[in-house]
Amino acid sequence: MSSAIEVSGLTKHFGSVKALNGINFEVEQGSVLGLLGPNGSGKTTTVRILATLLKPDSGKAVVSGFDVVEQHDEVRAVIGLTGQYAAVDEYLTGRENLELFGRLFHLSKKNAAKRADELLERFDLSDAADRGIKGYSGGMRRRLDLAASLIGQPSILFLDEPTTGLDPRSRLGMWEVINDLVKDGTTVLLTTQYLEEADQLASKIVVLDHGNVIAQGTSDELKTSVGGDRIELVVAKSQDLANAVNSLTAIASGEAVTDVVARRILVPVSGGSTSIVEAVRRLDESKIEIEDIALRRPTLDDVFLSLTGHIAEEVTEEVPAGRGGRRSAKSGGKK
Ligand SMILES: Nc1ncnc2c1ncn2[C@@H]1O[C@H](COP(=O)(O)OP(=O)(O)OP(=O)(O)O)[C@@H](O)[C@H]1O
Ligand SMILES: [Mg+2]
Repeated sequence: MSSAIEVSGLTKHFGSVKALNGINFEVEQGSVLGLLGPNGSGKTTTVRILATLLKPDSGKAVVSGFDVVEQHDEVRAVIGLTGQYAAVDEYLTGRENLELFGRLFHLSKKNAAKRADELLERFDLSDAADRGIKGYSGGMRRRLDLAASLIGQPSILFLDEPTTGLDPRSRLGMWEVINDLVKDGTTVLLTTQYLEEADQLASKIVVLDHGNVIAQGTSDELKTSVGGDRIELVVAKSQDLANAVNSLTAIASGEAVTDVVARRILVPVSGGSTSIVEAVRRLDESKIEIEDIALRRPTLDDVFLSLTGHIAEEVTEEVPAGRGGRRSAKSGGKK
């Protein structure tokens, strides 16, 4: 398979801040790449360079065979971008927004209206089409934003944190929409701060930290590198700790870790939610009283802890208020 996106040795500084330190990755045509990292790790900078909105200091990026610096017009013709902050106009209706984008893409008035209609239908916004988007929910705005980025029928789509700030239901809705796009053959590069989201959507994940790629692979590969799923168990009596470890040996996929003071045991497992049922059954058989038990799936924090020895640090600069209201504290100073 050929690559839709090739990034090699890309660097970018903002004054003394090294936003990108020479990153490399490739995205196969028709696949989804998840760019995963905490605040300030360089996700938006990468997307902006690939979308030709920002020039790299050095290195090379090729999108659909075109160099993002030398051939930016050709790149722009094949990509769509949904930025981290909504690009739609608050004072227009959903339909007006899409028609405006259509006109920006040089569609005739008639074709812009037709395309707007199709997209409103596809993203379940037909009923709200003629309402001002001031009254749209966060999920509706994100869908409208995504619809706007599809006006030009891009073959490569960049989605910068498509679900940040959405409630769980809207998030699921957005995942479905993205999966549909991929089924239609669109190549997607999405950024996210959630391993779970990359897990759901991406066939390959690139993990960024302070402008460096610190890991890349499939979701399973990353999870395995941090030890996969674990059962976290707190026993009521500390004298039961050893017994509990023994009774769970059969379902453990690795060595259990015991914290005597907290009366807690961490047992690596590979059976997902069935392993917790099995664990409870075995502990019950051994008459061990449990205070708490849960299946813990690796999070981005676990990935970071395992790869870097530190948890993902928040960059705590403030962003000006009113940027779509999708986030509270953010790394600032961009765009
Ligand atoms: N225009 C800019 N001027 C100055 N510094 C910038 C600019 N854009 C980004 N930075 C800095 O570069 C680093 C990477 O920022 P970037 O926006 O790429 O991170 P991010 O991974 O998208 O973070 P977030 O999760 O907060 O969106 C940060 O330290 C950020 O403050
Ligand atoms: Mg960002």
